[in-house]
Amino acid sequence: MIYFDNNASTKLDPGALSAMEAAFHLFGNPSSLHAEGRRARRAVEDAREEVARLVGAEPAEIYFTSGGTEANAMAIYGATAERGGSWVRSGAEHPSVREAAPGVPGRVVDPDPSGALDAARVVEAIDPGTALVSVMSANNEYGGIFPVGDIARGARARGALVHTDAVQAAGRVPIDVRALEVDLLSVSAHKLHGPRGAGALFIRKGVRIAVRTPGGGQEKRLRGGTENTPALVGFGVAARLAGERLLHDARAIGQLRDRLERSILEGISGTRAIGAGQPRLPNTSAILFEGALSETLLMRLDLEGVAVSAGSACSSGTLAPSPAILALGFSPRQARQVIRFSLSRDNTAEEVDAVLRCLPAAVAAVRQKADAPGPEAAAAAARSSR
Ligand SMILES: Cc1ncc(COP(=O)(O)O)c(C=O)c1O
Repeated sequence: MIYFDNNASTKLDPGALSAMEAAFHLFGNPSSLHAEGRRARRAVEDAREEVARLVGAEPAEIYFTSGGTEANAMAIYGATAERGGSWVRSGAEHPSVREAAPGVPGRVVDPDPSGALDAARVVEAIDPGTALVSVMSANNEYGGIFPVGDIARGARARGALVHTDAVQAAGRVPIDVRALEVDLLSVSAHKLHGPRGAGALFIRKGVRIAVRTPGGGQEKRLRGGTENTPALVGFGVAARLAGERLLHDARAIGQLRDRLERSILEGISGTRAIGAGQPRLPNTSAILFEGALSETLLMRLDLEGVAVSAGSACSSGTLAPSPAILALGFSPRQARQVIRFSLSRDNTAEEVDAVLRCLPAAVAAVRQKADAPGPEAAAAAARSSR
């Protein structure tokens, strides 16, 4: 299997896995005062230091959660419930941000069709009643990197808090909470070769948010629930490795991505890369294959042993076009013709070559299928010719 779906989830790093295996024996509750509890606490606090280092925070500013979704909900619910008022977000946010504040009035600023988000337009959308601005550091579907630092400086001047969903960015591009001047920042372990089900929210020292998960008193009373020691240990190791390898990996992965993308654009007609030419994650390429339904192409590539993702979200049994791609001004039809290739340090040049070998025929077959009348159209044609 050639796995080019690393924005969905990454393979657990072997170093993180062996640290987790050892941590499963730390069975004490990290809140217990006895030696068994203290051993688990030490492991959790070591992990907190590693996660803090990855994003340039103090360990005391890192609050562990069950993942990126919970970190986003904790930040957005917490800030809007604490302060009242409205919120501003980009039109390219992940559903866990889009749906985090039901009932709270919001304004949405879309990126332009090139994939870029204009910081000035986001800042202009902030008014005195705005409690929070939430703009992702990097988009999950086409990899666009947004000017969070500029937005944060403008928002701060207007008295709003700033949250960024850095789930796709952390471990792939340098992230520093002080340089970005954000108040809240979400990360997730499984996007950086850690385990699924672990994440963290950075809360700048002095920023107050309402408690979303009360009880238990863990995470300084902001997120109750006994800590998942092995998952957090895996997260800590993965965060350390991601930080150590970041610059090297970003360069190597970027070269693979660029060659993959260039060869597709040159070799297959009717293709275009979304967001290329604007700041982008080095690992992500979202390609619009005109006339090829992405779900069908995805299934076809899966049969060839290639895992990719379609630029549309599968929700409650219907394959809806992706809101983030629609926000760039693409039509629903175009949004259903987008395939996302997302690479990681586990991928090789040979894998890129293999995908480039099988892709043209797969695209041609899917396009041909789209041209052929479906059973209903064929039946209608037969009826009308009678
Ligand atoms: C941009 C972004 N934010 C948040 C999430 C949710 O993270 P998690 O799967 O850890 O809940 C994802 C996962 O796909 C994502 O891509």
